[in-house]
Amino acid sequence: DHPIGVAVLGMGNVGTEVVKILREHAEEMRQRVGAPLVLRGVAVRRTGVDRGIPAELLTTDAEALVGREDVDLVVEVMGGIDPARALIGAALRAGKSVVTANKALLADYTGELAAAAERSRADLYFEAAVAGAIPVVRPLIQSLSGDRVDRVVGIVNGTTNFILSAMAETGADYHATLAEATRLGYAEADPTADVEGYDAAAKAAILASLAFHTRVTAADVYREGIARISAEDLETAAAVGCTVKLLAICERIPGELSVAEGGKDRVSVRVYPALIPLKHPLSSVDGAFNAVVVEAENAGRLMFYGQGAGGAPTASAVMGDLVMAARNKFYGGRAPGESVYAELPIAPFGDT
Ligand code: NDP
Ligand code: HSE
Repeated sequence: DHPIGVAVLGMGNVGTEVVKILREHAEEMRQRVGAPLVLRGVAVRRTGVDRGIPAELLTTDAEALVGREDVDLVVEVMGGIDPARALIGAALRAGKSVVTANKALLADYTGELAAAAERSRADLYFEAAVAGAIPVVRPLIQSLSGDRVDRVVGIVNGTTNFILSAMAETGADYHATLAEATRLGYAEADPTADVEGYDAAAKAAILASLAFHTRVTAADVYREGIARISAEDLETAAAVGCTVKLLAICERIPGELSVAEGGKDRVSVRVYPALIPLKHPLSSVDGAFNAVVVEAENAGRLMFYGQGAGGAPTASAVMGDLVMAARNKFYGGRAPGESVYAELPIAPFGDT
């Protein structure tokens, strides 16, 4: 029952919810992991803000927090490239596993960070970086690793989907709806990343890299945002039985020769607002929800759907990764065993 020390970098939309779960569900997490996950500290930029946790847990010195001997696992939810890149690198080099939601960083630096993780046999997990609460990273890395993925198409940005849905349904004003998305914790610190498609492009790069076992960066992704979509565009779409969604499309383009014959497939990755027929399942994905459709040679078509943005849904994905990282580091990747299933009595049918 050796306590496992956790450092959380950032206490904004996502970090606040991660800290809340760590504190309020500590006993459940202890059972899932086999030892307590103990919050050692939280790094923030601004002091003097009441964040509802003991002041001694807060620090502006993220580097010192990551380096503490009693910190075993690091959760990076501060966003941005610097200093997140250096902090994650330092944690991994010290053998500390890292969980991050930082798609902007991962889109360009997964290679560097994954190499650091591999060298020190630490984990780098990032389920939260694509599509919030929806498990799509782990299915691509694990469940589909024995298949051949041909296509990944999805709505992977909650903010733009929230805006387009509101404009299509109620004729809501673009700028007012973007402000509402920020208030609800969906938008990036700089919402240009959402509306200009950079966030979706980063996620598309991550999805394509995982799906096609290659390295795609944000610069490889063709990108258009939604800033120029008008209420008239949405009316025109509706008049022809369609709606407009910002899509991320990752496709395998078959080479002239088969892979077996020494040929090479190519990869096309693009993000743009697209007309979707109302009978297509992606047309009914509204608000900050996301959906990702994966097409694989043997699995066929799979669809993943759920809350794609917001503090609590994203924290769910972060916590899942944290439990896995803790089990890997201290318990050989295994869950603690049968004892965890015995805690709740069964309600007889008719009692609910
Ligand atoms: P916020 O802007 O709400 O929070 C960022 C937090 O990090 C703040 O607490 C801020 O401190 C702290 N911080 C920023 N820079 C530093 C620094 N240099 N040193 C110490 N602390 C710092 O971001 P979100 O919580 O919305 O997002 C966090 C990450 O999660 C981003 O990478 C984002 O892309 C990703 N993400 C967000 C989702 C969402 O729905 N919001 C969904 C999926 C991923 P202070 O409070 O003092 O300003
Ligand atoms: N800003 C992002 C979005 C957060 O709106 O989808 C989730 O990654």
